[in-house]
Amino acid sequence: MTIKVALLPGDGIGPEVMGATRLVLEALEEKTGVGFQFETYPIGDKVKEETGTALPAETLEGVRKADACLFACVGETAKETILPLRQRLDLYANLRPAKAYPGVPALNPRTDLMIVRENTEGIYKMIGHRAGDSAFNVRVITREASERITRYAFQYAESKGLGKVTAVHKANVLDYTDGLFLEAARAVASEHPDVEYEEMIVDAAAMKLVMRPEDFQVVVTTNMFGDILSDLTAGLVGGLGMAPSANIGDRYSIFEPVHGSAPDIAGRGIANPSACILSAAMMLEWLGEEESAARVEGAVVSVLAEGRVRTPDLGGSASTLDFARAVAERV
Ligand code: IPM
Ligand code: MN
Repeated sequence: MTIKVALLPGDGIGPEVMGATRLVLEALEEKTGVGFQFETYPIGDKVKEETGTALPAETLEGVRKADACLFACVGETAKETILPLRQRLDLYANLRPAKAYPGVPALNPRTDLMIVRENTEGIYKMIGHRAGDSAFNVRVITREASERITRYAFQYAESKGLGKVTAVHKANVLDYTDGLFLEAARAVASEHPDVEYEEMIVDAAAMKLVMRPEDFQVVVTTNMFGDILSDLTAGLVGGLGMAPSANIGDRYSIFEPVHGSAPDIAGRGIANPSACILSAAMMLEWLGEEESAARVEGAVVSVLAEGRVRTPDLGGSASTLDFARAVAERV
């Protein structure tokens, strides 16, 4: 079977981590029956400088035509690229796992949780207004989006045999919006009596995630809380260099390392490509290629656990390509 993958390397370290990931996928191709057809499309600051648009029509079309898409990162143009992609393609579920891997310094080695972040609404609707010295951003929460993200979280928990879903909110202050979010979450929870349902206010959740991450399995939350908490949980398990993610809708999907374009190290060949490679593993799982997904994740885990080949962010001196080659060998 040939899988059509749209590659969106973007800016900064994007092309480096994407090149590394492609190397790993090509090794997988050689060793298994999976085949890839890669198409690379421009996105981000650089193409905007050249053409005036950060998200060219051919790129959007390319993502639509492909079976799946890997996006690395952009510089200053997130608001014109990944945010519209998430909303226009209705990629409503943003999956952000935080897993402590052996050999990677984690604050708590028992951390293994999944944040399911609503990805299309909330404050990210970018509806706002400025009147002189007063400014407003409107937080939009709908029953439909709240129910479907909670349903996604419960179905995810069930599919992985996990026993608990925690809904994170601030309904004590955001009475209208998170009041509705909780109402929707409770309704969905009542359809899943076999999975424990728990609610937690976001500030308390931030503290408990740091002190007792092992108490969490699946966290479901609104867009911006998910944004903030997923950087927090990435910090628990080794930083953004280790954090993959998936943007999933009913029709399309984009897989994406959580890190940005890291202009300070761009072009030096030292970025940690783990997040992008692990995002590719999430892509394979979503495509139903579970065995290939496990091979890719397993290869990353084994190289990290051995500890001989590590990028500088993890205390090593290996280059992006050294790491990718080590992973490719073990895939
Ligand atoms: C993320 C990023 C984006 C977000 C930014 C770049 C707009 O922080 O993917 O977490 O806020 O969603
Ligand atoms: Mn973020």
